[in-house]
Amino acid sequence: MIILGIETSCDDTCVAVYDSKNGILSESFCSQINNNKKYGGIVPELASYNHVLKLCSLILLTLKKKKLSLKNLDAIAYTKGPGLISPLFIGNAFGKALAYSLNIPVIGVNHLEAHLLIALKIKKKIHFPCLGIIVSGGHTLFIKMINYHKYMFLGGTLDDGAGEVFDKVSRFMKAEYPSGLFIENMSENINEFYCCNFPIPLYKSSCYNLSFSGLKTSVKNKLNKKHQNINNIAYNFQNVLIKSISNKCKKILINTKIKTLILSGGVCVNKQLRREIINTAMSYNVSLYKAPLKYCMDNGSMIALAGYIKIRDNFYDKDMFIQPYAKYNFHF
Ligand code: KG4
Ligand code: ZN
Repeated sequence: MIILGIETSCDDTCVAVYDSKNGILSESFCSQINNNKKYGGIVPELASYNHVLKLCSLILLTLKKKKLSLKNLDAIAYTKGPGLISPLFIGNAFGKALAYSLNIPVIGVNHLEAHLLIALKIKKKIHFPCLGIIVSGGHTLFIKMINYHKYMFLGGTLDDGAGEVFDKVSRFMKAEYPSGLFIENMSENINEFYCCNFPIPLYKSSCYNLSFSGLKTSVKNKLNKKHQNINNIAYNFQNVLIKSISNKCKKILINTKIKTLILSGGVCVNKQLRREIINTAMSYNVSLYKAPLKYCMDNGSMIALAGYIKIRDNFYDKDMFIQPYAKYNFHF
């Protein structure tokens, strides 16, 4: 089977082709980074407009790279949510219309599920249940993956997503958007370490939730004081944020006895976060599936792959009228 994946949940327009025999065949994306820099963040209406402008040519280009045409497609998968609602509507309308015109199935894919599935090696035998940790711009969640297509929410951030906090803290430090990497680079360049005593929110609480808004405010207050070492603040901020994620991860592993971890989402390109989760997996004797660096951030391949798994197992909604949704839900 050859599946086209379309991802438009945020600002990047991403497209990929997945082949059930040979894996990912071709992929392309179109970034809106210049617009985002100009406005200091994502403007949903501009992002939607650009998806409309770019999707058609991007799909044809992605097929052409492997000498394929629309006629070779067996199904189309698109992101149905969660994400920014107007960009989601573009992928939803485009995917359905194209599938209808080609008379092939269309599969609405949950963006969070796709982040998890791209981290699992499809041919390997997975020991379920798994603990899925998604750390991205908009989300920071712990999900129990009971099996393919069956998930349970365990906990997550009560306010900002981890990536969003990275972006906001970088903005306090006058870095250009998007800026997750800025903090990581700053924190690698500390010459004198001192502890900023930033709070680790909900650290002692037995729940599996996280909260980053207090941390964000503490960093802002610290930066407003005179004679501060910004690299040191960046280091302390990153350290506390990562510690709060790994602390909850350990709690879940102890309480649930889960033996497989999945790590995915844009923030998981962060070296310290990867190291911390690798160490956690080793000390709790847990198998770890990390999304490859290339597939941590939003991409079309994860949507095409998830679409394939949904159609392979005949586990998808065949209703053409299914609507996109902005907020996460667990009816994958
Ligand atoms: O998963 P993703 O591409 O988009 C969402 O689905 O939200 O994640 C993007 C997020 C941005 O907030 C970005 O600042 C963050 O990932 N990010 C990083 C790093 N590189 C990107 N955060 C921490 N360290 C990094 N090196
Ligand atoms: Zn994402």
